[in-house]
Amino acid sequence: MKILVIGSGGREHAIAKKLSESQTVEKVFVAPGNAGMQSKKIETVMIKESKFDQLIEFAKENEITYTFVGPEIPLMKGIVDAFEESGQRIFGPSKAAAIIEGSKDFAKQLMVKYEIPTAKHQTFTELEAAKAYVLKVGAPIVVKADGLAAGKGVVVAETVEEAIDALTDMLEDNVFGASGSRVVIEEFLDGQEFSLLSFVDGEKVWPMVISQDHKRAFDDDKGPNTGGMGAYAPVPQLRDAMVQKAVEEIVKPTASGMVQEGRYFRGILYTGLIATKEGVKVIEFNARFGDPETQVVLPRLESDFALLIDAILDGREPTVHFREGGITLGVVVASDGYPGSVENGVKLPDFSTLESSQPIFAGVKEGVDGLVSNGGRVFLLVAEGKDMKEAQKKIYTDLAKLNLSGFYYRKDIGNKSLFY
Ligand code: AMP
Ligand code: GLY
Repeated sequence: MKILVIGSGGREHAIAKKLSESQTVEKVFVAPGNAGMQSKKIETVMIKESKFDQLIEFAKENEITYTFVGPEIPLMKGIVDAFEESGQRIFGPSKAAAIIEGSKDFAKQLMVKYEIPTAKHQTFTELEAAKAYVLKVGAPIVVKADGLAAGKGVVVAETVEEAIDALTDMLEDNVFGASGSRVVIEEFLDGQEFSLLSFVDGEKVWPMVISQDHKRAFDDDKGPNTGGMGAYAPVPQLRDAMVQKAVEEIVKPTASGMVQEGRYFRGILYTGLIATKEGVKVIEFNARFGDPETQVVLPRLESDFALLIDAILDGREPTVHFREGGITLGVVVASDGYPGSVENGVKLPDFSTLESSQPIFAGVKEGVDGLVSNGGRVFLLVAEGKDMKEAQKKIYTDLAKLNLSGFYYRKDIGNKSLFY
């Protein structure tokens, strides 16, 4: 098979790498990819994610078996519809189905209609009405831009003032542009968060091993929300029975709700969940793999990933099996200043000192003398241990040996599984 992956981050590096491990795969092309992911079987292609015509042309000319879409933006813009109209096989939800991630308001309405547990909410477009609601309900409270904001359009406000500032930013000062012209205000939920990703084809759902992201920039969950600073899988402190229940009561009704709404979902459904005292509730849906969750979930997939996707695309039953036991841990190394503005072009360290972890590359490009940084999240180290302590030791020992001036990382990824 020859497969085309769309995207350029660490998630796409992990996807391409896993696909390339299949005996049935001759070549994985990644458009546009990044300079860190090239290998014997992985080749990057200089076409942007937004150039659907050129991507379709490439898929035809190179007799691509199927295309796999990594990020949300091309999905929301209809890349799957465009490929299918031109007769090309592609894995991911249509534009109509990707709305489950593209509009938090839509996601909320879906959950209310199909009785899927989630935080109570109200949607607003007028600042005064939104403020009045916050004053009435009080803090802590959560303010979310309705549209896409790269994981940064959510403010968990500890005080009423903070909530009102966030509302003013979104509804008056248009900090998130059109994405913030409608806001969802929701009840604050308390508990451990986890990510449950599933392969979905209409009503059929094949869940993956669960993982836990670390969204805040700094240790002890301090600082601003980011795209994710590290993750691990599985999440041993959360019971299997609870996860099974979440599959039955959340993932399956969501998938069948989408079919009933005329928004058949085929692709990866990411359910961001929180285990509260009253049970598991939904924080968010994404229409794609998570980043950095993918970097720790896919290494645990024992089935042939390329064949699995091929089977779903054909409507056949895929083989989906994840390794049990042990922990897979990933720690993100980000540019100083992330999630704010960062300086690009900083030289990456020499990875030849790594002993027991592997780098997965994200915001990198080729410099005059090797790789340099090109974005907020630059790379992630991934390692597997018999338990969390061993996995942490492997990664943090390797990280300590790298020269990381200009970069930072969290020192506590995975600690929640030790002290819960
Ligand atoms: P989202 O983009 O909706 O996933 O939100 C980003 C992060 O904000 C989540 O991963 C949570 O840590 C936090 N968050 C979002 N909604 C809530 C909520 N209702 N209660 C508590 N924390 C939340
Ligand atoms: N790690 C969170 C996300 O991919 O949305």
